[in-house]
Order: sequence, then C-alpha cells, then structure tokens
Amino acid sequence: MDQTQKIIWTNDFKIGIDDVDLQHEYFVFLINRLIDELKISDDTAYKHRFLEELCLYAAFHFTSEENLMMKTGFPGLKAHKLLHRYLLSNLNDRINYYRLSRESEKEIIRFLIDWFTRHTLEEDRLFGQFMCETSNPKR
Ligand SMILES: [Fe+2]
Repeated sequence: MDQTQKIIWTNDFKIGIDDVDLQHEYFVFLINRLIDELKISDDTAYKHRFLEELCLYAAFHFTSEENLMMKTGFPGLKAHKLLHRYLLSNLNDRINYYRLSRESEKEIIRFLIDWFTRHTLEEDRLFGQFMCETSNPKR
C-alpha cells in the first residue's frame, strides 16, 4: 500500500465485537485525517497536537479493549497487553523523532497503517474468535 494512500474501512476489518469495531473504525478515520493534515497543513504546532490526539485515542482504545478482555476472561490478555504497550511506546518514540525532524511524515503514516492492518487483522481477530466461540453475551 502506498504510504499516503488512505485506508478504506470495510467489513473485512470487523472482528465481530461491536465496541471494538466502532473504535477501530474511528481509528481509521483519525489515520486518514492525519494523512490529510500532514499533506495540506503547514502549521507544525497543529500537526504535533494532532499526532498527540491520535496517540491519546490509541491509548484509550487499548485500555478499552483490555478491559473487555479482562471482563470476558480472554486467555491472551497478558500477551496482548504487551503488544499494546510496545505499539504505544513505538508511536511515542516516532512522534518524538518527528518533532526533532528525524522521522518523516511518510514513515509515521506507514507505521500507523501497518499497525492497524496487522494488529487488527491478526491479533485482535483472535479476541473476536474467542468471543464468538464462547458465545460471550458481552459483545
Ligand atoms: Fe488490540
């Protein structure tokens, strides 16, 4: 995928848990907005603030997902939490590098798109399967 090409949300991204799917769809919306902002805006302070907004949303989403995993007894919670922690610290590092002009806009976008497509399609899907198999009522 081209690093400045937007992500088109489709049902293929859904993992079958309404709360999580809704948040993932909004995360895609934020990534697409970031692509626009980085491309058209020359307001550096605003671009930094927007990256911070995206980072805070990712942190919120991870906490929300982990809480649901905890509540439903998902056995992969511990490992999944570590993945979340790694992604967030990686994003924070990249944002700091970007502020110092050591990381390009394209690299941050490429990282976010890769994160979304891989983590959602591979890791989060395991949680969706667990919820489906256990017919957990909290969906
Ligand atoms: Fe996740």
